Amino acid sequence: MIYKKNILCIGAGYVGGPTMAMIAAKCPQYKVTVVDINDKRINDWNSDNLPIYEPGLDVLIKTARGRNLFFSTEIEKGIKEADIIFVSVNTPTKNFGQGAGMAADLQYWEKTARQILSNSDKDKIIVEKSTLPVRTAKAMERILNSASGTIKFEVLSNPEFLAEGTAVKDLENPDRVLIGSRETEAGLKARNELVDIYANWVPREKIIESNVWSAELSKLTANAFLAQRVSSINSLSSLCEATEADIEEVAYAIGTDSRIGNKFLKSSVGFGGSCFKKDILNLVYICQSYGLNEVADYWESVVRLNEWQEKRFVLNMLSNMFNTVAGKKIAVLGFAFKADTGDTRESPAIYITMGLLEERALVNVSDPKALVNARVDLKDIKDGIDFIEDPYKAAEGAHAIAVLTEWDIYTKLDYKQIFDSMVKPAFIFDGRNILNHKALFDMGFNVFAIGKAPLKHF
Ligand code: UDX
Ligand code: ADP
Repeated sequence: MIYKKNILCIGAGYVGGPTMAMIAAKCPQYKVTVVDINDKRINDWNSDNLPIYEPGLDVLIKTARGRNLFFSTEIEKGIKEADIIFVSVNTPTKNFGQGAGMAADLQYWEKTARQILSNSDKDKIIVEKSTLPVRTAKAMERILNSASGTIKFEVLSNPEFLAEGTAVKDLENPDRVLIGSRETEAGLKARNELVDIYANWVPREKIIESNVWSAELSKLTANAFLAQRVSSINSLSSLCEATEADIEEVAYAIGTDSRIGNKFLKSSVGFGGSCFKKDILNLVYICQSYGLNEVADYWESVVRLNEWQEKRFVLNMLSNMFNTVAGKKIAVLGFAFKADTGDTRESPAIYITMGLLEERALVNVSDPKALVNARVDLKDIKDGIDFIEDPYKAAEGAHAIAVLTEWDIYTKLDYKQIFDSMVKPAFIFDGRNILNHKALFDMGFNVFAIGKAPLKHF
Protein backbone atom coordinates (compact mmCIF):
# COMPACT_ATOMS: atom_id res chain seq x y z
CA MET A 1 0.00 0.00 0.00
CA ILE A 2 1.40 3.44 -0.98
CA TYR A 3 0.42 6.14 1.49
CA LYS A 4 0.43 9.89 0.80
CA LYS A 5 2.31 10.61 4.06
CA ASN A 6 3.27 8.91 7.30
CA ILE A 7 1.73 10.32 10.46
CA LEU A 8 3.10 9.33 13.88
CA CYS A 9 1.59 10.05 17.26
CA ILE A 10 3.82 9.74 20.32
CA GLY A 11 1.64 8.92 23.35
CA ALA A 12 -1.31 6.49 23.13
CA GLY A 13 -3.45 7.96 25.91
CA TYR A 14 -6.94 9.45 26.17
CA VAL A 15 -6.04 12.07 23.55
CA GLY A 16 -3.58 10.31 21.22
CA GLY A 17 -5.54 7.05 20.78
CA PRO A 18 -9.00 8.41 19.84
CA THR A 19 -7.65 11.37 17.83
CA MET A 20 -5.45 9.20 15.66
CA ALA A 21 -8.23 6.64 15.24
CA MET A 22 -10.44 9.41 13.81
CA ILE A 23 -7.72 10.75 11.49
CA ALA A 24 -6.99 7.22 10.23
CA ALA A 25 -10.68 6.43 9.73
CA LYS A 26 -11.32 9.65 7.80
CA CYS A 27 -8.04 9.75 5.84
CA PRO A 28 -7.23 6.28 4.44
CA GLN A 29 -4.56 7.87 2.23
CA TYR A 30 -2.35 8.50 5.31
CA LYS A 31 -0.57 5.84 7.34
CA VAL A 32 -1.14 6.58 11.03
CA THR A 33 1.05 4.93 13.67
CA VAL A 34 0.57 5.47 17.40
CA VAL A 35 3.51 4.66 19.67
CA ASP A 36 3.92 4.55 23.42
CA ILE A 37 6.54 3.49 25.95
CA ASN A 38 3.89 1.50 27.78
CA ASP A 39 3.79 -2.06 26.27
CA LYS A 40 0.58 -3.00 28.00
CA ARG A 41 -1.23 0.04 26.67
CA ILE A 42 -0.15 -0.76 23.12
CA ASN A 43 -1.18 -4.42 23.52
CA ASP A 44 -4.58 -3.25 24.74
CA TRP A 45 -4.99 -0.91 21.76
CA ASN A 46 -4.26 -3.93 19.55
CA SER A 47 -6.83 -6.09 21.34
CA ASP A 48 -10.62 -6.18 21.68
CA ASN A 49 -10.23 -4.80 25.17
CA LEU A 50 -9.24 -1.17 24.56
CA PRO A 51 -7.35 0.63 27.35
CA ILE A 52 -9.99 3.37 27.64
CA TYR A 53 -13.76 3.30 27.55
CA GLU A 54 -15.40 5.70 25.09
CA PRO A 55 -18.77 5.15 23.44
CA GLY A 56 -18.22 4.31 19.73
CA LEU A 57 -14.45 3.97 20.01
CA ASP A 58 -14.28 0.22 19.40
CA VAL A 59 -16.19 0.54 16.12
CA LEU A 60 -13.94 3.43 15.02
CA ILE A 61 -10.78 1.48 15.83
CA LYS A 62 -12.03 -1.57 13.94
CA THR A 63 -12.62 0.58 10.83
CA ALA A 64 -8.97 1.51 10.49
CA ARG A 65 -6.77 -0.81 12.61
CA GLY A 66 -4.54 -2.93 10.39
CA ARG A 67 -5.59 -0.92 7.32
CA ASN A 68 -3.84 2.43 7.94
CA LEU A 69 -3.87 2.59 11.75
CA PHE A 70 -1.14 0.82 13.72
CA PHE A 71 -0.23 0.73 17.41
CA SER A 72 3.37 -0.04 18.26
CA THR A 73 6.15 0.35 20.82
CA GLU A 74 8.80 0.95 18.14
CA ILE A 75 9.16 4.65 18.80
CA GLU A 76 12.47 5.25 17.02
CA LYS A 77 11.40 3.41 13.87
CA GLY A 78 8.16 5.39 13.90
CA ILE A 79 10.04 8.68 14.16
CA LYS A 80 12.37 7.78 11.27
CA GLU A 81 9.48 7.01 8.93
CA ALA A 82 7.25 9.93 9.90
CA ASP A 83 6.55 13.11 7.93
CA ILE A 84 4.22 14.54 10.57
CA ILE A 85 4.58 13.79 14.29
CA PHE A 86 1.85 14.55 16.80
CA VAL A 87 3.18 14.71 20.35
CA SER A 88 0.59 13.61 22.85
CA VAL A 89 2.60 12.58 25.90
CA ASN A 90 1.41 13.50 29.37
CA THR A 91 2.23 16.87 30.88
CA PRO A 92 1.26 16.42 34.54
CA THR A 93 1.58 19.07 37.22
CA LYS A 94 5.16 19.29 38.47
CA ASN A 95 5.52 17.76 41.94
CA PHE A 96 9.05 18.88 42.74
CA GLY A 97 11.24 21.99 42.75
CA GLN A 98 10.32 25.37 41.29
CA GLY A 99 6.60 25.60 40.51
CA ALA A 100 5.78 22.35 42.36
CA GLY A 101 2.02 21.78 42.51
CA MET A 102 1.32 24.30 39.75
CA ALA A 103 3.65 24.38 36.74
CA ALA A 104 3.51 21.75 34.00
CA ASP A 105 6.14 19.03 34.26
CA LEU A 106 7.73 19.14 30.82
CA GLN A 107 10.28 16.35 31.27
CA TYR A 108 8.42 13.80 29.08
CA TRP A 109 7.88 16.49 26.52
CA GLU A 110 11.54 17.49 26.32
CA LYS A 111 12.65 13.86 26.23
CA THR A 112 10.39 13.32 23.24
CA ALA A 113 11.79 16.39 21.46
CA ARG A 114 15.32 15.08 21.89
CA GLN A 115 14.30 11.61 20.75
CA ILE A 116 12.76 13.11 17.60
CA LEU A 117 15.94 15.05 16.92
CA SER A 118 18.26 12.06 17.27
CA ASN A 119 16.15 9.80 15.04
CA SER A 120 15.35 12.14 12.16
CA ASP A 121 16.99 12.09 8.75
CA LYS A 122 14.38 14.13 6.86
CA ASP A 123 12.31 17.30 7.39
CA LYS A 124 9.31 16.91 9.67
CA ILE A 125 6.30 18.75 10.97
CA ILE A 126 5.92 18.46 14.74
CA VAL A 127 2.44 19.03 16.14
CA GLU A 128 1.84 19.87 19.78
CA LYS A 129 -1.29 17.95 20.73
CA SER A 130 -0.84 17.83 24.50
CA THR A 131 -1.89 20.89 26.48
CA LEU A 132 1.20 22.98 27.07
CA PRO A 133 2.20 26.30 28.59
CA VAL A 134 2.14 29.18 26.11
CA ARG A 135 5.53 29.54 24.38
CA THR A 136 6.47 25.84 24.67
CA ALA A 137 6.80 25.78 20.87
CA LYS A 138 9.75 28.12 21.26
CA ALA A 139 11.55 25.64 23.54
CA MET A 140 10.66 22.81 21.18
CA GLU A 141 12.11 24.73 18.23
CA ARG A 142 15.30 25.46 20.16
CA ILE A 143 15.83 21.79 20.97
CA LEU A 144 14.97 20.55 17.49
CA ASN A 145 17.17 23.11 15.79
CA SER A 146 20.09 22.62 18.18
CA ALA A 147 21.84 20.16 15.86
CA SER A 148 23.92 21.58 13.06
CA GLY A 149 22.33 19.44 10.31
CA THR A 150 20.19 20.61 7.42
CA ILE A 151 16.99 18.91 8.56
CA LYS A 152 14.13 21.36 9.16
CA PHE A 153 11.44 21.03 11.79
CA GLU A 154 8.31 23.17 11.80
CA VAL A 155 6.43 23.23 15.11
CA LEU A 156 2.63 23.63 15.05
CA SER A 157 0.14 23.86 17.90
CA ASN A 158 -3.09 21.89 17.39
CA PRO A 159 -4.68 21.54 20.83
CA GLU A 160 -7.35 18.91 21.33
CA PHE A 161 -10.71 19.99 22.76
CA LEU A 162 -12.40 16.57 23.03
CA ALA A 163 -14.16 15.77 26.27
CA GLU A 164 -14.10 12.29 27.78
CA GLY A 165 -17.23 10.22 27.31
CA THR A 166 -18.01 12.10 24.08
CA ALA A 167 -14.58 11.81 22.44
CA VAL A 168 -15.76 10.11 19.25
CA LYS A 169 -18.62 12.55 18.75
CA ASP A 170 -16.38 15.55 19.49
CA LEU A 171 -13.72 14.34 17.05
CA GLU A 172 -16.19 13.54 14.30
CA ASN A 173 -18.08 16.80 14.59
CA PRO A 174 -15.89 19.32 16.43
CA ASP A 175 -17.01 22.88 17.26
CA ARG A 176 -13.68 23.90 15.80
CA VAL A 177 -10.19 22.66 15.02
CA LEU A 178 -7.44 25.11 15.97
CA ILE A 179 -4.11 25.15 14.14
CA GLY A 180 -1.37 27.60 15.08
CA SER A 181 1.94 28.06 13.29
CA ARG A 182 4.75 30.50 12.76
CA GLU A 183 3.71 33.04 10.15
CA THR A 184 6.74 32.42 7.96
CA GLU A 185 6.56 30.80 4.52
CA ALA A 186 7.62 27.43 5.95
CA GLY A 187 5.25 27.82 8.91
CA LEU A 188 2.27 28.57 6.69
CA LYS A 189 3.13 25.64 4.40
CA ALA A 190 3.18 23.26 7.38
CA ARG A 191 -0.06 24.77 8.68
CA ASN A 192 -1.70 24.08 5.30
CA GLU A 193 -0.60 20.44 5.40
CA LEU A 194 -2.41 19.99 8.69
CA VAL A 195 -5.45 21.92 7.48
CA ASP A 196 -5.62 19.52 4.50
CA ILE A 197 -5.76 16.51 6.83
CA TYR A 198 -8.66 17.85 8.92
CA ALA A 199 -10.47 19.16 5.81
CA ASN A 200 -11.11 15.50 4.91
CA TRP A 201 -14.08 15.63 7.28
CA VAL A 202 -14.24 18.96 9.13
CA PRO A 203 -16.00 21.85 7.31
CA ARG A 204 -13.39 24.40 6.27
CA GLU A 205 -15.04 27.27 8.22
CA LYS A 206 -14.58 25.29 11.43
CA ILE A 207 -10.81 25.06 10.95
CA ILE A 208 -9.40 28.12 12.72
CA GLU A 209 -5.88 29.29 11.93
CA SER A 210 -3.80 31.46 14.23
CA ASN A 211 -0.29 32.22 15.33
CA VAL A 212 1.32 29.48 17.38
CA TRP A 213 1.16 31.34 20.73
CA SER A 214 -2.56 32.08 20.40
CA ALA A 215 -3.23 28.39 19.72
CA GLU A 216 -1.22 27.33 22.77
CA LEU A 217 -2.92 29.88 25.03
CA SER A 218 -6.43 29.20 23.69
CA LYS A 219 -6.38 25.65 25.01
CA LEU A 220 -5.58 26.74 28.57
CA THR A 221 -8.10 29.56 28.27
CA ALA A 222 -10.91 27.32 27.01
CA ASN A 223 -10.49 24.97 29.95
CA ALA A 224 -10.21 27.86 32.41
CA PHE A 225 -13.45 29.40 31.12
CA LEU A 226 -15.30 26.07 31.26
CA ALA A 227 -14.14 25.39 34.82
CA GLN A 228 -14.98 28.94 35.81
CA ARG A 229 -18.59 28.41 34.73
CA VAL A 230 -18.86 25.32 36.92
CA SER A 231 -17.32 27.13 39.90
CA SER A 232 -19.60 30.12 39.32
CA ILE A 233 -22.76 28.03 39.42
CA ASN A 234 -21.43 25.91 42.28
CA SER A 235 -20.63 29.03 44.33
CA LEU A 236 -24.29 30.02 44.07
CA SER A 237 -25.55 26.53 44.95
CA SER A 238 -24.64 27.18 48.58
CA LEU A 239 -26.60 30.42 48.55
CA CYS A 240 -29.60 28.58 47.08
CA GLU A 241 -29.50 25.98 49.83
CA ALA A 242 -29.59 28.77 52.42
CA THR A 243 -32.37 30.80 50.78
CA GLU A 244 -34.75 28.24 49.23
CA ALA A 245 -33.89 29.46 45.75
CA ASP A 246 -33.39 26.47 43.42
CA ILE A 247 -30.09 26.31 41.52
CA GLU A 248 -31.66 24.55 38.53
CA GLU A 249 -34.31 27.25 38.18
CA VAL A 250 -31.65 29.94 38.51
CA ALA A 251 -29.41 28.22 35.92
CA TYR A 252 -32.34 27.89 33.52
CA ALA A 253 -33.33 31.52 33.99
CA ILE A 254 -29.86 32.89 33.32
CA GLY A 255 -29.05 30.32 30.61
CA THR A 256 -31.91 31.48 28.38
CA ASP A 257 -30.03 34.76 27.93
CA SER A 258 -28.25 34.03 24.65
CA ARG A 259 -25.25 36.04 25.85
CA ILE A 260 -24.77 33.63 28.75
CA GLY A 261 -25.92 30.42 27.06
CA ASN A 262 -27.38 27.34 28.74
CA LYS A 263 -24.50 24.84 28.57
CA PHE A 264 -22.08 23.93 31.34
CA LEU A 265 -24.32 25.37 34.05
CA LYS A 266 -25.06 22.16 35.95
CA SER A 267 -24.33 22.56 39.59
CA SER A 268 -22.45 19.59 40.98
CA VAL A 269 -20.35 18.16 43.72
CA GLY A 270 -17.38 19.75 41.89
CA PHE A 271 -15.48 19.40 38.65
CA GLY A 272 -12.90 16.69 38.17
CA GLY A 273 -10.97 15.23 35.26
CA SER A 274 -7.38 15.34 34.21
CA CYS A 275 -7.52 18.83 32.69
CA PHE A 276 -9.33 21.57 34.54
CA LYS A 277 -7.34 21.81 37.76
CA LYS A 278 -4.01 21.06 36.09
CA ASP A 279 -4.53 23.58 33.31
CA ILE A 280 -5.77 26.38 35.57
CA LEU A 281 -2.86 25.95 37.97
CA ASN A 282 -0.56 25.99 34.97
CA LEU A 283 -2.20 29.25 33.81
CA VAL A 284 -1.85 30.67 37.32
CA TYR A 285 1.84 29.81 37.36
CA ILE A 286 2.41 31.41 33.96
CA CYS A 287 0.62 34.59 35.08
CA GLN A 288 2.72 34.71 38.25
CA SER A 289 5.90 34.28 36.25
CA TYR A 290 4.95 37.38 34.23
CA GLY A 291 4.23 39.27 37.49
CA LEU A 292 0.46 39.29 36.81
CA ASN A 293 -0.51 38.40 40.36
CA GLU A 294 -4.09 39.73 40.25
CA VAL A 295 -4.80 37.65 37.15
CA ALA A 296 -3.22 34.62 38.82
CA ASP A 297 -5.34 35.08 41.97
CA TYR A 298 -8.50 35.45 39.91
CA TRP A 299 -8.03 32.10 38.16
CA GLU A 300 -6.74 30.32 41.24
CA SER A 301 -10.02 31.12 43.00
CA VAL A 302 -11.81 28.86 40.46
CA VAL A 303 -9.85 25.86 41.80
CA ARG A 304 -10.20 26.92 45.45
CA LEU A 305 -13.98 27.24 45.09
CA ASN A 306 -14.09 23.73 43.61
CA GLU A 307 -12.15 22.32 46.57
CA TRP A 308 -14.52 24.10 48.91
CA GLN A 309 -17.55 22.64 47.11
CA GLU A 310 -16.19 19.09 47.67
CA LYS A 311 -15.45 19.80 51.31
CA ARG A 312 -18.86 21.42 51.78
CA PHE A 313 -20.55 18.25 50.53
CA VAL A 314 -18.89 16.14 53.23
CA LEU A 315 -19.64 18.71 55.94
CA ASN A 316 -23.25 18.85 54.80
CA MET A 317 -23.55 15.07 55.11
CA LEU A 318 -21.99 15.17 58.53
CA SER A 319 -24.13 17.96 59.96
CA ASN A 320 -27.37 16.49 58.62
CA MET A 321 -26.58 13.00 59.89
CA PHE A 322 -26.57 14.26 63.49
CA ASN A 323 -22.91 15.37 63.37
CA THR A 324 -21.49 11.87 63.19
CA VAL A 325 -21.00 9.29 60.47
CA ALA A 326 -18.56 7.17 62.48
CA GLY A 327 -19.45 3.49 62.06
CA LYS A 328 -22.28 4.34 59.65
CA LYS A 329 -22.42 2.67 56.26
CA ILE A 330 -22.56 5.06 53.29
CA ALA A 331 -23.10 4.00 49.68
CA VAL A 332 -21.19 6.19 47.25
CA LEU A 333 -22.94 5.83 43.89
CA GLY A 334 -20.53 6.87 41.16
CA PHE A 335 -16.79 7.24 41.36
CA ALA A 336 -15.93 8.43 37.83
CA PHE A 337 -15.40 12.21 37.49
CA LYS A 338 -18.40 12.29 35.16
CA ALA A 339 -20.73 9.81 33.46
CA ASP A 340 -19.80 7.60 30.49
CA THR A 341 -16.16 7.23 31.44
CA GLY A 342 -14.16 4.92 33.68
CA ASP A 343 -11.72 7.76 34.38
CA THR A 344 -11.38 8.86 38.00
CA ARG A 345 -8.55 11.38 37.69
CA GLU A 346 -9.23 14.29 40.10
CA SER A 347 -12.72 12.89 40.64
CA PRO A 348 -14.58 14.69 43.45
CA ALA A 349 -15.53 11.17 44.61
CA ILE A 350 -11.92 10.59 45.70
CA TYR A 351 -11.92 13.58 48.04
CA ILE A 352 -15.43 12.94 49.32
CA THR A 353 -14.73 9.27 50.02
CA MET A 354 -11.52 10.20 51.83
CA GLY A 355 -13.41 12.84 53.83
CA LEU A 356 -16.03 10.28 54.88
CA LEU A 357 -13.36 7.76 55.82
CA GLU A 358 -11.62 10.39 57.95
CA GLU A 359 -14.92 10.70 59.81
CA ARG A 360 -14.72 6.89 60.24
CA ALA A 361 -17.68 6.10 58.04
CA LEU A 362 -17.81 2.69 56.32
CA VAL A 363 -17.94 3.43 52.61
CA ASN A 364 -19.29 1.14 49.88
CA VAL A 365 -18.03 2.47 46.55
CA SER A 366 -20.13 1.61 43.51
CA ASP A 367 -19.66 2.51 39.83
CA PRO A 368 -20.48 0.72 36.55
CA LYS A 369 -17.12 1.50 34.86
CA ALA A 370 -14.69 3.05 37.32
CA LEU A 371 -14.13 0.44 40.04
CA VAL A 372 -10.78 -0.69 38.61
CA ASN A 373 -9.48 2.88 38.85
CA ALA A 374 -11.23 3.46 42.19
CA ARG A 375 -9.33 0.51 43.71
CA VAL A 376 -6.06 2.06 42.53
CA ASP A 377 -6.98 5.52 43.86
CA LEU A 378 -7.84 4.08 47.28
CA LYS A 379 -5.18 1.35 47.42
CA ASP A 380 -3.60 2.75 50.60
CA ILE A 381 -6.85 2.54 52.55
CA LYS A 382 -6.92 -0.63 54.60
CA ASP A 383 -10.16 -0.37 56.55
CA GLY A 384 -13.70 0.88 56.14
CA ILE A 385 -14.00 0.52 52.39
CA ASP A 386 -15.68 -1.94 50.04
CA PHE A 387 -16.11 -1.94 46.26
CA ILE A 388 -19.51 -3.21 45.15
CA GLU A 389 -20.66 -2.77 41.57
CA ASP A 390 -24.32 -3.60 42.19
CA PRO A 391 -25.91 -0.38 43.57
CA TYR A 392 -28.63 -2.35 45.40
CA LYS A 393 -26.02 -4.38 47.30
CA ALA A 394 -23.93 -1.24 47.94
CA ALA A 395 -26.94 0.47 49.55
CA GLU A 396 -28.13 -2.53 51.58
CA GLY A 397 -27.95 -1.74 55.30
CA ALA A 398 -26.61 1.77 54.59
CA HIS A 399 -27.54 4.90 56.52
CA ALA A 400 -27.02 7.15 53.53
CA ILE A 401 -26.51 7.25 49.77
CA ALA A 402 -24.32 9.86 48.09
CA VAL A 403 -24.77 10.17 44.32
CA LEU A 404 -21.50 11.54 42.98
CA THR A 405 -21.59 10.71 39.24
CA GLU A 406 -24.54 11.39 36.93
CA TRP A 407 -24.74 7.84 35.50
CA ASP A 408 -28.07 7.28 33.80
CA ILE A 409 -28.54 3.94 35.61
CA TYR A 410 -28.84 5.78 38.93
CA THR A 411 -31.95 7.58 37.69
CA LYS A 412 -33.62 4.23 36.96
CA LEU A 413 -33.07 2.31 40.21
CA ASP A 414 -35.96 1.01 42.28
CA TYR A 415 -35.50 3.44 45.18
CA LYS A 416 -38.42 1.96 47.13
CA GLN A 417 -36.57 -1.37 47.25
CA ILE A 418 -33.39 0.47 48.23
CA PHE A 419 -35.18 2.49 50.93
CA ASP A 420 -36.63 -0.70 52.43
CA SER A 421 -33.14 -2.22 52.69
CA MET A 422 -31.58 0.80 54.44
CA VAL A 423 -31.19 1.82 58.09
CA LYS A 424 -33.74 4.48 59.12
CA PRO A 425 -33.83 7.43 59.03
CA ALA A 426 -32.49 7.00 55.50
CA PHE A 427 -30.60 9.85 53.85
CA ILE A 428 -29.87 10.57 50.23
CA PHE A 429 -27.44 13.26 49.07
CA ASP A 430 -27.76 14.00 45.38
CA GLY A 431 -24.48 15.57 44.27
CA ARG A 432 -25.59 15.79 40.63
CA ASN A 433 -29.30 16.68 40.80
CA ILE A 434 -30.31 13.68 38.71
CA LEU A 435 -32.96 12.14 40.99
CA ASN A 436 -36.65 12.86 41.54
CA HIS A 437 -36.33 14.48 44.95
CA LYS A 438 -40.03 14.86 45.68
CA ALA A 439 -40.69 11.17 44.92
CA LEU A 440 -37.79 10.12 47.14
CA PHE A 441 -39.04 12.33 49.96
CA ASP A 442 -42.53 10.84 49.63
CA MET A 443 -40.98 7.35 49.91
CA GLY A 444 -39.48 8.34 53.25
CA PHE A 445 -35.97 9.50 52.37
CA ASN A 446 -34.48 12.68 53.81
CA VAL A 447 -33.25 14.35 50.63
CA PHE A 448 -30.38 16.79 50.29
CA ALA A 449 -29.59 17.98 46.79
CA ILE A 450 -26.99 20.46 45.60
CA GLY A 451 -28.41 23.97 45.45
CA LYS A 452 -31.87 23.04 46.76
CA ALA A 453 -33.66 23.43 50.04
CA PRO A 454 -33.45 20.16 52.02
CA LEU A 455 -36.50 17.86 52.15
CA LYS A 456 -36.47 16.27 55.59
CA HIS A 457 -38.90 14.45 57.79
CA PHE A 458 -37.51 15.80 61.07
C1 UDX B 1 -12.62 19.04 29.50
C2 UDX B 1 -13.07 19.97 28.36
O1 UDX B 1 -14.51 19.97 28.26
C3 UDX B 1 -12.45 19.54 27.04
O2 UDX B 1 -12.78 20.47 26.02
C4 UDX B 1 -10.94 19.46 27.21
O3 UDX B 1 -10.34 19.00 26.00
C5 UDX B 1 -10.57 18.54 28.36
O4 UDX B 1 -11.21 18.97 29.56
P1 UDX B 1 -13.39 16.62 30.34
O5 UDX B 1 -12.44 16.83 31.48
O6 UDX B 1 -13.37 15.32 29.63
O7 UDX B 1 -13.18 17.75 29.23
O8 UDX B 1 -14.87 16.78 30.91
P2 UDX B 1 -16.00 17.90 30.96
O9 UDX B 1 -17.20 17.39 30.30
O10 UDX B 1 -15.52 19.23 30.52
O11 UDX B 1 -16.33 17.94 32.53
C6 UDX B 1 -15.35 18.32 33.48
C7 UDX B 1 -15.92 18.28 34.87
O12 UDX B 1 -16.86 19.32 35.07
C8 UDX B 1 -16.65 16.96 35.20
O13 UDX B 1 -16.32 16.56 36.50
C9 UDX B 1 -18.11 17.35 35.09
O14 UDX B 1 -18.94 16.54 35.87
C10 UDX B 1 -18.07 18.78 35.60
N1 UDX B 1 -19.20 19.60 35.11
C11 UDX B 1 -19.33 19.86 33.78
C12 UDX B 1 -20.12 20.10 36.01
O15 UDX B 1 -20.02 19.87 37.21
N2 UDX B 1 -21.15 20.87 35.54
C13 UDX B 1 -21.31 21.16 34.21
O16 UDX B 1 -22.28 21.87 33.87
C14 UDX B 1 -20.37 20.64 33.31
P1 ADP C 1 -3.71 12.40 27.77
O1 ADP C 1 -4.96 12.44 28.61
O2 ADP C 1 -3.10 13.79 27.54
O3 ADP C 1 -3.83 11.65 26.48
P2 ADP C 1 -2.44 10.12 29.03
O4 ADP C 1 -1.74 10.09 30.34
O5 ADP C 1 -3.73 9.41 28.86
O6 ADP C 1 -2.59 11.66 28.66
O7 ADP C 1 -1.48 9.58 27.88
C1 ADP C 1 -0.16 9.98 27.69
C2 ADP C 1 0.61 8.77 27.15
O8 ADP C 1 1.93 9.20 26.79
C3 ADP C 1 0.78 7.61 28.14
O9 ADP C 1 0.25 6.42 27.59
C4 ADP C 1 2.31 7.52 28.35
O10 ADP C 1 2.77 6.18 28.50
C5 ADP C 1 2.83 8.12 27.05
N1 ADP C 1 4.21 8.63 27.11
C6 ADP C 1 4.76 9.41 28.07
N2 ADP C 1 6.06 9.68 27.77
C7 ADP C 1 6.33 9.06 26.59
C8 ADP C 1 7.48 8.96 25.74
N3 ADP C 1 8.61 9.57 26.05
N4 ADP C 1 7.37 8.22 24.61
C9 ADP C 1 6.21 7.60 24.28
N5 ADP C 1 5.10 7.66 25.04
C10 ADP C 1 5.14 8.38 26.18
